[in-house]
Amino acid sequence: MGELPRHVAVIMDGNGRWAQKRLLPRSAGHAAGLKRMIALSEYLFRCGVEVVTLYALSQENLSRSEEELSALFALFRQYFAGSVERLAKNDLRLDVIGDTSLLPEDILSLIESGKERTKEGGRGTLVLAIAYGARQDIVSAVNRAVRAGKEVTEGEFSALLSTGAYPPPDLLVRTGKEKRLSNFLLFESAYAELYFSDKMFPDFSDADMERALGDYATRDRRYGKVKTQ
Ligand code: IPE
Ligand code: IPE
Ligand code: MG
Repeated sequence: MGELPRHVAVIMDGNGRWAQKRLLPRSAGHAAGLKRMIALSEYLFRCGVEVVTLYALSQENLSRSEEELSALFALFRQYFAGSVERLAKNDLRLDVIGDTSLLPEDILSLIESGKERTKEGGRGTLVLAIAYGARQDIVSAVNRAVRAGKEVTEGEFSALLSTGAYPPPDLLVRTGKEKRLSNFLLFESAYAELYFSDKMFPDFSDADMERALGDYATRDRRYGKVKTQ
């Protein structure tokens, strides 16, 4: 296999349609998606990927029905502690990006305890994007720069983003058939390789991710330069 991406970002889309097709409530799709998410991130770390960023909930998703949101938060409450222990056991760190102040308070404290529990993790980082919006993140970074009262370079600006501690995503995967970014990592993905899968997220297997990694390995990343050799 060719080169492995250091940072893989995934837009986990299609849970609702997965459920609808099976005549199940959307929450059943989210439950299936959550189980897939845990296994898929472990697969990526086993492959040697250092940073895995997962788009779990956009800021725009917060305007979904009360019923759907409470089902999502209930799943979070149910699986979070166990998932954090698995991360800690695997020497992985958890980080969360997004405007967590928009989340219920108990979810916020779960997130804080999860970050604290895994802070020593040295093998890689799982970055969960929750209540995340790239435009909002860019605007906060601009405001931080303005408050600091000085112009910033591109590198300094990147560091002000919520993903500032990580290298930019090398591979960005979106499941669920749509071909758009839906307000995810807009600044960071300037040179990410994009991979779209028609599979709904709960059906997106480790083998599907292996195909995405294989496809990535064949890409010629030129960054605007002319290919040499
Ligand atoms: C993605 O699946 C997960 C979340 C946004 C929480 P969707 O819920 O968007 O599923 P579809 O796109 O309606 O199938
Ligand atoms: C993007 O999916 C957000 C997540 C997967 C968390 P959406 O389902 O919200 O995106 P749109 O509405 O199809 O653009
Ligand atoms: Mg969707």
